Amino acid sequence: MTTTAEWYADCLSLNDEYDLSALQDPALLSLETRIVEHLTNSWCTEQKARLLLEVVVLTTPAVCVEIGAFTGSCTLPMAAGLSYLQHGHAHIIDAWSNAEAVRGLPPDDVNTVWWSGLDMAAVKGQFTQMLHDWQLTHVCDVLPEPSRDAVSKVPSIDFLHLDGNFSEQGALLDSELYLPKVTTGGYALLSNALVTVASLPTKMKALRPFFESCEIIAELDGGNTLLFRKR
Ligand SMILES: C[S@@+](CC[C@H](N)C(=O)[O-])C[C@H]1O[C@@H](n2cnc3c(N)ncnc32)[C@H](O)[C@@H]1O
Repeated sequence: MTTTAEWYADCLSLNDEYDLSALQDPALLSLETRIVEHLTNSWCTEQKARLLLEVVVLTTPAVCVEIGAFTGSCTLPMAAGLSYLQHGHAHIIDAWSNAEAVRGLPPDDVNTVWWSGLDMAAVKGQFTQMLHDWQLTHVCDVLPEPSRDAVSKVPSIDFLHLDGNFSEQGALLDSELYLPKVTTGGYALLSNALVTVASLPTKMKALRPFFESCEIIAELDGGNTLLFRKR
C-alpha cells in the first residue's frame, strides 16, 4: 500500500473494490464544487472536503461518527455524501463547551487562551444553521456532550472522523474509545495530527492505536490529516 500526499480516490480502490465511476455523476460533481466553494477559508481544506465526500460516496457507510464538529466544516462534506446516497447516518459529537475544549491543556498555553474565549453557544448555532441551510438535519444525530460520555450511544462505526480534544490525554482517550468501534475494513480519519500544545505534538500518542489496528491510506495537508483503514 502506498500513501498519497494529495487526495486521489483511486488510492481507496487498488483492488477495484469500489466503482470509481460513481464519482463522475454530474449531480455529485456539482455538489462537490458547491461544498468546496462554501468551505473556502474554513478549517476544512479542499483536499479534506473532497476526501470526506468521496470516501462516503464510494464506501457507502451505514454509520459515520465525527468527534469535534465545531461549526461543521467537516460535517458538511460527510453528511452531504450520506444525503446524496440517501443511505447511512452520521452521529456528530461535540461538547461545545469551553471547559471541555481546554480540559488537559496547560493554563497559559495559546490554545487554552483561544478555546477559553470562544462563544461556544454561537459556534453551536453556526453548526445548527449549516445543517439547516444544507438540508442535512435528517442525516445527523447530534450529541452535544463530551466524547467519553457519547461513546456508549454510538453503534459500530463504518467511517470515523476524530477531530476533538487537543490534549495528549483527550486525543488518546478518543482513539482508545472509538477506534475499537470501527468495523474491519472501515475507515478512520485523524485531523489536526500535527497540532502542538506548549511546543509538543500532543496527538502523537493518539496515533499509536491507529498504527496498531489500521493501515495508512492517505496523508494530506502536510501530514496533518491522515486516513486509515481498519484491519
Ligand atoms: C479542532 S475543533 C474541530 C474542527 C472541526 N472538525 C472543523 O473542521 O471545523 C475541535 C472541537 O472538539 C471539541 N471538543 C474538544 N474536546 C472535546 C470533548 N472531550 N468532547 C467533545 N468535543 C470536544 C471542541 O468543542 C471543538 O469544537
